Amino acid sequence: MIVARSRAELNTALDGAPRPIGVVPTMGALHEGHLALIRRARAENATALVTIFVNPTQFLPHEDFSRYPRPIERDLALCEQSAVDIVFTPPVEEMYPPGFATTVVVQGPSRRWEGEHRPGHFNGVATVVARLLNLTRADRAYFGEKDYQQLQVVRRLVADLALPVDIVSCETVRDPDGLALSSRNVYLSEEQREQALALSRALRTAAGLAEAGERDIPTLEAAMREVVERAGLEIDYLVVVDPETLEPLQRLEGAARALGAVRLGTVRLIDNLPIPPPRPTVPSPTLESPTRVSS
Ligand code: PAF
Repeated sequence: MIVARSRAELNTALDGAPRPIGVVPTMGALHEGHLALIRRARAENATALVTIFVNPTQFLPHEDFSRYPRPIERDLALCEQSAVDIVFTPPVEEMYPPGFATTVVVQGPSRRWEGEHRPGHFNGVATVVARLLNLTRADRAYFGEKDYQQLQVVRRLVADLALPVDIVSCETVRDPDGLALSSRNVYLSEEQREQALALSRALRTAAGLAEAGERDIPTLEAAMREVVERAGLEIDYLVVVDPETLEPLQRLEGAARALGAVRLGTVRLIDNLPIPPPRPTVPSPTLESPTRVSS
């Protein structure tokens, strides 16, 4: 496994690398969710490349940039065990060299939800992802559905800038009790972790109600709020939205996505789940007029 810390080292590694190149962009603190992405990138590409970079531009000033976990030796060992070919783990100056003056702004799917609660966050994500995809010469890039809004923003970015890369999404990996894996789960005390389960429970409640035939979105959202409030979590948003544009919906007509963000003390968690489209209603049998039998 080659560990490249500069763009020059990365270019040398890439010059001999067979294509297709599958890239998994991460901020490190790798968990089973990342490893699922890495396994898929490994299986589907001739070269598997992981980037590890805690990107300062996607953190707001009051957020956890300085305390974000950075267990680099452990991350490198996990990449090695997963048969990764190249890890790109640059310092900030390699990603944002002196004179760097570009910000990529994706409108549309970045506007609401995380976009409102973390203004500027997706500009940082879109800028670093565009740069990472170019630097790594990615043919395919792998993103988890856990950050569902980020996934839609990246899809929009790649489509709008005609970047020559396929975006592959992978399902959220969860602990057996339903908690979505996240590098930020390490911040949770045992008690908070128990409380946090209410978020995935709320999303499952909405999915279950939709499955049972409920089509009124405000009813689904109220049911989610009740579950989360009962557990004492503070809600940033808990909504059922269009799965691509992430715009709010009033009635379930097709597939949708439930999205939530909650706070427990200083920890903020996000999660999401697909909401199944309503089942087509089976037409009730029409009463045929009795057949006349002529005698
Ligand atoms: O999902 C993440 O870990 C980050 O937002 C990403 C995509 C690596 C960009 O910094």
